[in-house]
Amino acid sequence: MNHFPYRDGELFAEGVPLRRIAAEVGTPVYCYSSAALTANYRAFAEAFAGQRATICYAVKANSNIAVIRTLARLGAGADVLSEGELRRALRAGVRPGNIVFSGVGKSPDELALALETGIGQINVESEPEIEALNELAAAKGVRAPVAIRVNPDVDADTHEKIATGMKENKFGIDFDRARAVAAHAGGLPGIEIVGVAVHIGSQLTDLAPFSAAFRLLSELVGGLRDDGHDIRRLDLGGGLGIAYQDETPPTPKEYAAMIATATDGLEVEIVLEPGRAITGDAGVLLTRVLYVKKGVSKTFVIVDAAMNDLMRPSLYDAHHAIIPAIEPAPGTNEGADETADEAANEARVDIVGPVCETGDFFARDRLMPVLHSQDLLAIGCAGAYGAVMASTYNSRPLVAEVLVKAGDFAVIRPRQSYDDMLGAEKMPDWLEDARPLPSTQPLPPKGVA
Ligand code: LLP
Repeated sequence: MNHFPYRDGELFAEGVPLRRIAAEVGTPVYCYSSAALTANYRAFAEAFAGQRATICYAVKANSNIAVIRTLARLGAGADVLSEGELRRALRAGVRPGNIVFSGVGKSPDELALALETGIGQINVESEPEIEALNELAAAKGVRAPVAIRVNPDVDADTHEKIATGMKENKFGIDFDRARAVAAHAGGLPGIEIVGVAVHIGSQLTDLAPFSAAFRLLSELVGGLRDDGHDIRRLDLGGGLGIAYQDETPPTPKEYAAMIATATDGLEVEIVLEPGRAITGDAGVLLTRVLYVKKGVSKTFVIVDAAMNDLMRPSLYDAHHAIIPAIEPAPGTNEGADETADEAANEARVDIVGPVCETGDFFARDRLMPVLHSQDLLAIGCAGAYGAVMASTYNSRPLVAEVLVKAGDFAVIRPRQSYDDMLGAEKMPDWLEDARPLPSTQPLPPKGVA
């Protein structure tokens, strides 16, 4: 079900017109749908109902505490990769036992906090990390519950910047060395090996690479058990893609069925770390058209959101649907008829932000209904890797985030104020005095005393 439908010609998030949110909160603003989050989580949970599976939502996709809490209330655990994300998951109410700590570079402080908090699983990605964790745990007199993340050298067939499962990627312990590493780690006083983990990449739209990796991992479980390890958990990471444009990603049901086959007979608890599949299509970024500028060869629709607010198009050339908050007349639906002749009420445009970089765009040569200054647009599928990747580049304050529930909405992160942004900076002593700055009059011509 689409939780951002047009109703009587106007775009809604559940029961709230997006125009109302823009009017009350301003733009740009991220707007998430509780019903979409719930439906996505339930679809995942129901797909795995027949398997012993724990769903640890990958907080990195959207780490707003209200979003995490919405999912935690449905039973989700959390996959975190930093102290900040761990703190968010705890604040959202996720039980420590349902938290998995991933990441290739967890600092000793982060590992210590994970141990103090008593989280359920720490995924280790290198031998030096195992040594560091062992020392910390042994000093505290505890054993860290560890899953060894392996790098299976499988091509995930996704954008190169988000593929993580090949030899040349920084992630995981080489598959061929996993048993030797486990043999050593298993003998350390501060380490208890409870499982193995893998994550081969993000936005996968085909099951084959998953299946190849998971089969390898299942074999590894057998090998590690032969070596005497009590392997109880198999963490299969995240990565299930969503439809940004015309992709046809597997459904959670198909994904779950493939996993059931790949892990058949293993008697393990499956851990899943979906991020994008839960929050991706549950959010839009609302932005307003500032100006329509007709260039010599192109028309630029300049909007008030920019690459600092949503980086995916600039960073990965990612496609995001962009639709007006007021429904265009029939036949002007963008995307559906990219090759058709342009009608009088459509135009091919670049949709760009105010940041001073050519890479600051949301769409290029996109067929859109004719747009005007003040029009409100919704950038789709912005619920994952949107707000979390934002920055204040160009001194643009972080935008607001809103959560909708039925006919209601709440601001779950106010727009950053200029005081917050500027007030965080400090003057060194030597610049602190209130001496007036020298005037910026041009220097006198050379030779004049
Ligand atoms: N588990 C681990 C260890 C991960 O590294 C990731 C994502 C996930 C789970 C969740 O993956 P998902 O289900 O969301 O695909 N910024 C990029 C995506 C980066 C993904 C990083 N790792 C983008 O905007 O496409």
